[in-house]
Amino acid sequence: MNRRHAGQEWDAYLAGFHEKRPGITERLLSRSLDARGATPYDWVAGALSDSGPVVDVACGSAPLWNPRLAGRYLGVDLSSAELDLARQRGAHRLTRGSAEVLPVETGTAATVVCSMALMVLPDLPAALGETRRVLRPGGRFVAIVPTIPRRLDDLVFGAGLVRAARGPLSYRNDPLLRRPRRLFAEQGLTITEDTRRTYRFDLSADGAADAAASFYLRGPQSARESEVAHYLSRASRRGRTMPIPIRRILARLN
Ligand SMILES: C[S@@+](CC[C@H](N)C(=O)[O-])C[C@H]1O[C@@H](n2cnc3c(N)ncnc32)[C@H](O)[C@@H]1O
Repeated sequence: MNRRHAGQEWDAYLAGFHEKRPGITERLLSRSLDARGATPYDWVAGALSDSGPVVDVACGSAPLWNPRLAGRYLGVDLSSAELDLARQRGAHRLTRGSAEVLPVETGTAATVVCSMALMVLPDLPAALGETRRVLRPGGRFVAIVPTIPRRLDDLVFGAGLVRAARGPLSYRNDPLLRRPRRLFAEQGLTITEDTRRTYRFDLSADGAADAAASFYLRGPQSARESEVAHYLSRASRRGRTMPIPIRRILARLN
């Protein structure tokens, strides 16, 4: 399969996935906790500017929206089902649009944030270029993406998950995000922080099914998903939680 065809396949897959299960990422991450009970969204929120417009790129169901941001928040996403959910929670400035062509004036945003989407955007360099365009001087970029765990037992858990999924759980932009400094610099952004934390997701009750439903399992999704759910239920019965390793990247304008 050539690159263009593979890209189109990813785009169609993502669109279908989010129309069918809006809010699924939020269902996973809002119940993924660190030792102090904080979620990855709290980690992102901690890096947002205290004032000025915030553009939430690929906002999904807008888990980052909160009433304190009212008046200075804009959420942009391609999925109308995700945006409907975002609207239901009270986020009102929402636009259907793409990360690669942001409906935002040049040099106006204090913060551009992108939670759990850089790894799947169809044109990551273009999205970073847009981020640079809309940021105002002194503005910041905040992103989180999934990463691989550090602890040996979590790596073993992850290897079991890949076996159950009968294929890798990888994303189209993994190669670009492996060493992102140069890519960011080419788009006018300097990385100021690149750190990792592992959160834990409770697999009991409906946790295993929710977690299995949150993975981008391309190909025969339903067969792969039931194998993954089965693996996670077994892990839950052994008292395991699922590691959710997250990487936070902060950048500023050059
Ligand atoms: C894993 S979800 C993350 C949603 C939300 N930011 C969160 O953290 O819960 C990825 C989101 O990216 C959106 N998306 C994918 N490609 C996009 C693009 N090119 N432009 C805008 N949104 C996109 C999807 O519709 C989906 O809502």
